[in-house]
Amino acid sequence: MNQNPPDLERIRSSGLVREVEFHTEIGSTNDRAAELARQPSLDCPFLVLAARQTAGRGRGSNRWWSAPGGLTFSLVLEARQSGLPVERWPQIALAAGAAVCEAIEQAIPNAAVGLKWPNDVYLSGKKASGILVEAPSTGTGRLLVGIGVNVNNSFANAPAELQPLATSMTDVARRPFDSTAVLLAILARFDVCLSNLVGNQRELFERWRTRCLLSGKRVRLSSGSRRVTGVCRGIDETGRLVLVTPEGTERHLSGTIDSFE
Ligand code: BTN
Repeated sequence: MNQNPPDLERIRSSGLVREVEFHTEIGSTNDRAAELARQPSLDCPFLVLAARQTAGRGRGSNRWWSAPGGLTFSLVLEARQSGLPVERWPQIALAAGAAVCEAIEQAIPNAAVGLKWPNDVYLSGKKASGILVEAPSTGTGRLLVGIGVNVNNSFANAPAELQPLATSMTDVARRPFDSTAVLLAILARFDVCLSNLVGNQRELFERWRTRCLLSGKRVRLSSGSRRVTGVCRGIDETGRLVLVTPEGTERHLSGTIDSFE
């Protein structure tokens, strides 16, 4: 496993973020990003990067398992200032997912990469990345975009229950990766995807439509107290998951995928 520390100078000079804060160990980069987001003078996009998280969080009750070699970071974004209406903020997770897909495709050209709506990236049929977008409760107009990517952390050493479910770039390509290069590729792609989002460009829709892993699959979705089963017809222009159910076609803006086959 390759555990080289990130090249902070390269990240700073990329111009893709305004500030970088690096931690060798932290509870959760999203928690730290939430603290920082309360500072009115924070220069955004602000990147919080950690070599290791001791309490990495996912959506709902999910936890994020991070071992040395994994890439874990959070971005504080000025979502309100970007001009993107609040009702479209859920699309930011998909934009981030599309960016992660593209960065992995760039690093592993023949990789089978797919976006599992709404916030996971799969590689060779297993989860390789998770995205957690949160709005700080203080209503600052900022958003926290937390991204975990399994880069150089091999799942050969992971807890047994995770091994059938998750993988890493190094497990699939059987070589180590330059984590800083992977991070910069994600940041660069995310920048493009966010511009597409704000400009309401069809290009972004194509980015997530073509990578939708659930298309054509039978999906069980939980949305609030509802359980819905249907065949997925992809992700629409507004980021909603389209499900054909016995009762008709439904479009879901949020929810959790319980299973797909
Ligand atoms: C999920 O799988 O439900 C989302 C996982 C998100 C994990 C990332 S790692 C960096 C950031 N900090 C966290 O505590 N979580 C996100």
